[in-house]
Formats: sequence, structure tokens, C-alpha cells
Amino acid sequence: MGFCGVGGFLFLVFVFGKNIAADKDGWDLCTDTPPADAKLWPSISNGHVGTVVHSDSVYMNGLYNGNGTTSTRARIPAFTALDVINFAPDENVSTTYCLHMNSGIYKEIYRGDHWRVTVTMYAHRVFNRLLVTELTVATDGQQRKLTIPLKYGTILEAETPESGLTPVHVYYKTVPLDVTVESGHSGTETLVFLMSVWDTGRIDVIGNVTLASSVYSALYYITSAMPLEEDTVWPFGYNGHVFWDQDTWMYPPVLVLHGDLAPVLLNTRFRTLNASREFARRTGHSGAQYAWESAFTGLDVTPWPPAQDYEHHVTGDVALALRQYVMMAGDSPLLHDVHFRETVFAIAEFWKSRSVLNRSAGMYEIHNVMPPDEWHYPVNNSVYTNYVAKMALLLPHFLCDVIHCLAPPEFEQVAGKMYIPFDADKNYHPEYDGYTKNVSVKQGDGILLGFPLQLAMTSDVRRNDLEIYENTTGAGPAMTWGMFAIGWLELNQTDRAEGLFFRQLLNKYGAFNIWTEDADGGGVTNFITGQGGYLQSIIHGYGGVRPYADRLALHCRPVPGSTGISIVGLDYLGNSLDISCDDRITKVVRTSHGRQLYLHTSLTREIIPLRPGVPVDMPSQPLAISSYQTLKLPIGQFGVNVPVEIVG
Ligand SMILES: *[C@@H]1O[C@H](CO)[C@@H](O)[C@H](O)[C@H]1NC(C)=O
Ligand SMILES: *[C@@H]1O[C@H](CO)[C@@H](O)[C@H](O)[C@H]1NC(C)=O
Ligand SMILES: *[C@@H]1O[C@H](CO)[C@@H](O)[C@H](O)[C@H]1NC(C)=O
Ligand SMILES: *[C@@H]1O[C@H](CO)[C@@H](O)[C@H](O)[C@H]1NC(C)=O
Ligand SMILES: *[C@@H]1O[C@H](CO)[C@@H](O)[C@H](O)[C@H]1NC(C)=O
Ligand SMILES: *[C@@H]1O[C@H](CO)[C@@H](O)[C@H](O)[C@H]1NC(C)=O
Ligand SMILES: *[C@@H]1O[C@H](CO)[C@@H](O)[C@H](O)[C@H]1NC(C)=O
Ligand SMILES: *[C@@H]1O[C@H](CO)[C@@H](O)[C@H](O)[C@H]1NC(C)=O
Ligand SMILES: *[C@@H]1O[C@H](CO)[C@@H](O)[C@H](O)[C@H]1NC(C)=O
Repeated sequence: MGFCGVGGFLFLVFVFGKNIAADKDGWDLCTDTPPADAKLWPSISNGHVGTVVHSDSVYMNGLYNGNGTTSTRARIPAFTALDVINFAPDENVSTTYCLHMNSGIYKEIYRGDHWRVTVTMYAHRVFNRLLVTELTVATDGQQRKLTIPLKYGTILEAETPESGLTPVHVYYKTVPLDVTVESGHSGTETLVFLMSVWDTGRIDVIGNVTLASSVYSALYYITSAMPLEEDTVWPFGYNGHVFWDQDTWMYPPVLVLHGDLAPVLLNTRFRTLNASREFARRTGHSGAQYAWESAFTGLDVTPWPPAQDYEHHVTGDVALALRQYVMMAGDSPLLHDVHFRETVFAIAEFWKSRSVLNRSAGMYEIHNVMPPDEWHYPVNNSVYTNYVAKMALLLPHFLCDVIHCLAPPEFEQVAGKMYIPFDADKNYHPEYDGYTKNVSVKQGDGILLGFPLQLAMTSDVRRNDLEIYENTTGAGPAMTWGMFAIGWLELNQTDRAEGLFFRQLLNKYGAFNIWTEDADGGGVTNFITGQGGYLQSIIHGYGGVRPYADRLALHCRPVPGSTGISIVGLDYLGNSLDISCDDRITKVVRTSHGRQLYLHTSLTREIIPLRPGVPVDMPSQPLAISSYQTLKLPIGQFGVNVPVEIVG
């Protein structure tokens, strides 16, 4: 089944070892008081196995239990959870709890008058079946003999009658009930585990450790959850199901900062292509329809029936992720992989069959959907859904122009006649047929047209969309405020962006920067979807990063409260770039020897070849990086007015 994670092993290693130090500004989250709410402990994960420290459960990528919509990630007892309690009742003990995000290591240090006990936990990145718990006694110690009981079993209930009972093995060593410290030094050298990923992709916020730390933690929680073997981000909330959260919110920052890891997430959709064809068949459509929520088989496991029945935009969101990949990676081996092309074509086929021709208008419409605004369903012609479908229908041509294949002309024909609701009177995009601008919405759905969908529109329309939906959006998930901030930054209104940008941080709780789905602390906890939106508001908002067919646009500005930002290791067309700015100067360095790139400036209209290792400094302004010396569009036409349908 092409799915390596299944039937994996899970170890607990219990050794005596030395401390591992890994301190850097903003990379350590430390506190002397344990979180009042147990859900605010940090998670450690390597994408294969993961746990929330002090919780009773370990989760493994791809391991689900339950029939159909009752499928949830399977819970494995957490033998890793080591609670050090009452070991020295007569003494005053001080404790520090630290998450070292730089190394992915979580550490607790208990200090008494004459001794120090350190508990270290991490998910091993190389031996990814390992969740490691180490106990170090700082005075004297002696190694103990430990026995290894073995547990073996399967999940309890399969998702479908055919999908089988996934086997799971758990190896662990018993934790001794007490530790006697004898004279003489002992201890095993521990494995020093450094996540070198930060060197090749991260965002530094300069001059504000608090903000730097909130960005590092968003990077940490998403990147540490990225598997090396499987294809799905380590399960967080929502029963560990996959939905647009992965494609639209977590994936984009991974694509920009770790282009080599991004295909891992696309693989989720390649692996479940056949199941999605089956799902389309069951709903009476052609091509592939991705389930709103999927788990082991890729078939629909959405427990909320209206979303299963109507929230079809996810199939367009997958196309958006694939399209972003084409624009960022260019002509690369993955584009020639048959799975890539098959997925792109099958999605377009679905949207062709899902659209209906309105003969009197001569336009294609999409009826009976739930937009990202889940408060309104079923509606006709959701502007988000129709536009994402249009983009999906254009993707086969876009791809074929890059890799030289042949796309059926019908896709482009349907896309060309896709109806995109627009109110010419009020000069804005109504969310769906019949929407009036006094109707409250769950999230700013219409504003997603500007970003991430990058629909070409005038600044006036973009402004109206932002104004109107800012007034009608309810409490909203955090991502919605990040997307508003991106919109205002596009219009150079940094003042309006600021409050919306910081509004996202209302969802950040506790010493370990854990995000909740709702700003009041409710909903899914460790909501890395929101953290993905937050990273996008920096990369695409303050960084102004926009992929287009022939260029990568940039407009770098410091995050408020900082003196500058630095996007380290941005991956574009097989190259790696460092982009940094303060409030005056933007600096671009190409750090790799990939394809030749040119920097196009908008103020002085220069075309500067980017030579490996040679930094280019200039006053901050909209910029473009391109493999073309001559851009397909007039120079200076940056920002919201760039049509995205052109093909480079
Ligand atoms: C612990 O601290 C308290 C107050 O700080 C002090 O009165 C007490 O003597 C200390 N106990 C020990 C064993 O040091
Ligand atoms: C799973 O549930 C469906 C009904 O939703 C039922 O038809 C099927 O028999 C169940 N399968 C198993 C293996 O329990
Ligand atoms: C999908 O099904 C086809 C035909 O049954 C098969 O050849 C192909 O390997 C399957 N693809 C995946 C990713 O399972
Ligand atoms: C077809 O389009 C016309 C003109 O825009 C509109 O009035 C009508 O409601 C549409 N019909 C359907 C079935 O959506
Ligand atoms: C959507 O269009 C269908 C026709 O395809 C119509 O029956 C239905 O009433 C429309 N729904 C809404 C909410 O307007
Ligand atoms: C919203 O405005 C429309 C007119 O544009 C009006 O018919 C409707 O009653 C209003 N709805 C609410 C909830 O205020
Ligand atoms: C949004 O609400 C504010 C305050 O109520 C109001 O001044 C503004 O006109 C509204 N904007 C739009 C576009 O309705
Ligand atoms: C934003 O400002 C830049 C100059 O810094 C300008 O080139 C660009 O056109 C402006 N964008 C909008 C939408 O006004
Ligand atoms: C960091 O940024 C936050 C948010 O703007 C601000 O409240 C805080 O004062 C800043 N800290 C420093 C040291 O500038």
C-alpha cells in the first residue's frame, strides 16, 4: 500500500546521560511553573511518533482506529511520560521546564540542595521509531539493569471492512520506581540531536525576542511534525484527520522554507488519489473528489455530515497546493512524476463534472456547497469555491506548459466560463449568490480571493473586500486575521495590518506558545493550522512573498515591534535565498548554485543578476526574483494587479 508508517515500532529508551545544551535567543521556552491546563504542555514529535509531554498518549502517523466517520487517531499508552514527584520530600526543590526548539529537546530540571535531576525527552529524527526519555542525576549515578517487556497488538476497529486491522508494536523498558544514587560517576553519552533544518529554512524576527520566539515555536510545532517516511503532518486535533488545514495552512510555509519536504505533504494527496476517485464515483461525479476529512484510506471520515456533503472546496485546495509547487519549484522531477499529473488531471475532471452550465448566462456555476465560511450551506456559487475550482481547471494547462504535456481543451473552456460572483454596484465580491454585506460570516472567506488565491483585482476591489468582510467576520479562526493583515499589507496600509496581525496571537497560550483554535482557549489545542496562517502572515504579509508564473514577488517590511525580519533559506526554482530587511534596506543573497536568477527592482527598474554568495542591498521596495531577464509582464506591475493566469 506504499505506506511505510504502518506496523511501525515505538520505543522508549531509558538511559542515564549528560545534559544537552542548546540555547539561542528566542529558541528556548522555559518556565518555573507547570501549565495550569494540561493541554498547554508542549508536544515533541518527529512526524512518525509524537506525544504531548506528561500526557497519557502517544500517537503514530498513519495509525487510526475506528469504522468510517468514527475513525480517530489511535491512542498508544505513553510509557514515555515520566513524572518526577516527591522524590525528596524534605527538601525545597525548584523546577524548570524548558522546550529547546532549536534541538527539539524538552527538558525538566529539578534542583535540590545537593543534587540535580534532569529529565530529557525528544523524538529522535533519525531513528524515528524512538521517543527518548532520559534521566540524568547530576551528582553521582550508577547504571541499572532494566528489563524489556514487549507489547504487541492491532488497532481495534478498521475504517472500512476492507482496510484491515493495522498492527502496532510497542517496545519499552520499565521505568524504575526509584533511583538510588551511589558514589562514582557514571552515565552514558546521549545522542545529541540537532534539527539542522533551521539552518536551511527559518524566519528570524530581529530585535524582539518575544516575537522571534512566537515565530520559532510556530516553525517548531509544524516542522517537528513533518514525517520523513509517511505523508501526513503528525496528527494534531480533529481526530488526526487530514483536511485543507494541511494543504492551505501548514503546507505553504513548508513549501517556502523547506521545498524538499513539501512533496511529503503532497504525497498525502497522491496516495489517496484512488480513494478520491472512488469518492467522486459515489457522489456521482468524474475524476477525483478529495474527502473533506480523510484518515487511513482516504475515503471520507468527516463526522459532521454537512461538511461531508457540501465542503467541496478541499478538492480545489489540493490543486492550489500543487499549483504553488509548480510556481515555486519550476520544472523539477516531481512534476514529471505520473502521480503529480494524474492528480492534477483528476481534480480538473472532478470540477468539470461538478460545474453546471447556466444556459441563459452562458456561464458555469457550482451549486450546493459549503464555503470555508461554514456558517452558510448549502449555497450556490461560493466565490471562493468557484475561483479555486477555476484555478484547478486551469492547472493541467499550466503544468503542461512547464513539462510539455497535452491537456484536454475542455478544462480551459469550462474555466474560461466559470462564474465568479461580483457586485458591480458595491464593487466587491459577495461570498455566494444572495449574500448581502450585513450577513455575519465565520471567517473572511471573500478575502481569501486576494491571498492565497491571488485573483487579479484592482486595489479598490481588494480594499472593499477587506473592509466589508472585516465588519462581518465573527470571532474567526486565527488564520482569518492573518489573511486580513496580508491584504492590508498588499495595499501598503501597515497601520491597518498591525492590529489584525497581532490579533492572531490571542490564540497563543502559556509558556510553550501552544495555539488553540479559538481565541478564548477553546477548540482544538496545539492548533498548528493557526500557526501555519501566522507564518504565512509573515512570509506573504511582511515579506510580501507571492509566487507568479514568471517570478517571485517580494516586498519586505519589518514586523511591528521588531527592527527587521530575515527569511533564511527561501527555496525558489531549485535555489536557496536569504531575504532580510529593516525599515529602510532590503538585502537579498542567493546562497546556492541553482538556476540563474535575476533581481528586478521596481523603483530604479534595474535587473541585477544574483550571484551565489554576493549580497545585493537596496532601499526596500517591491522586488521580483525571476529566472527571466525580461519579465512577461511590464516591470513595476507588482502587487495586486498582476494577473496570475499567465504562463511563463
Ligand atoms: C524551605 O524553604 C522554607 C522557606 O523558604 C524554609 O523555611 C525551609 O527551612 C526550607 N527547607 C529546607 C529543608 O531547606
Ligand atoms: C462499519 O459501519 C458500517 C455502517 O456505517 C457497517 O455497514 C459496517 O458493517 C461496519 N463495518 C465493520 C467492520 O464493523
Ligand atoms: C490506483 O489504482 C490503479 C489501478 O487500480 C493502480 O494501478 C495504482 O497503482 C493505484 N495508485 C495508488 C497510488 O494506489
Ligand atoms: C442563470 O443565470 C441568470 C443570469 O445571471 C440568473 O438570473 C439565474 O438565476 C441563473 N440560473 C440558475 C439556475 O442559477
Ligand atoms: C441553488 O441552485 C439550485 C439549482 O441548481 C436551486 O434548486 C437551489 O434552490 C439554489 N440554492 C440556493 C440556496 O439558492
Ligand atoms: C441585510 O440587508 C438587506 C438589504 O441589503 C436586507 O434586506 C436584510 O433584511 C438585512 N439583513 C439583516 C440581518 O440585517
Ligand atoms: C465597518 O464598520 C465601521 C464601524 O461600524 C463603519 O464605520 C464602516 O463604514 C463599516 N464599513 C463597511 C464597508 O461597511
Ligand atoms: C505600495 O508601495 C509601493 C512602494 O513602496 C508601490 O510600488 C506599490 O504600488 C504600492 N502598492 C499599492 C497597492 O498601493
Ligand atoms: C515586541 O513586540 C511586541 C508587539 O509589538 C511589543 O509589545 C513589545 O514591546 C516588543 N518588545 C520589544 C523589546 O521591543
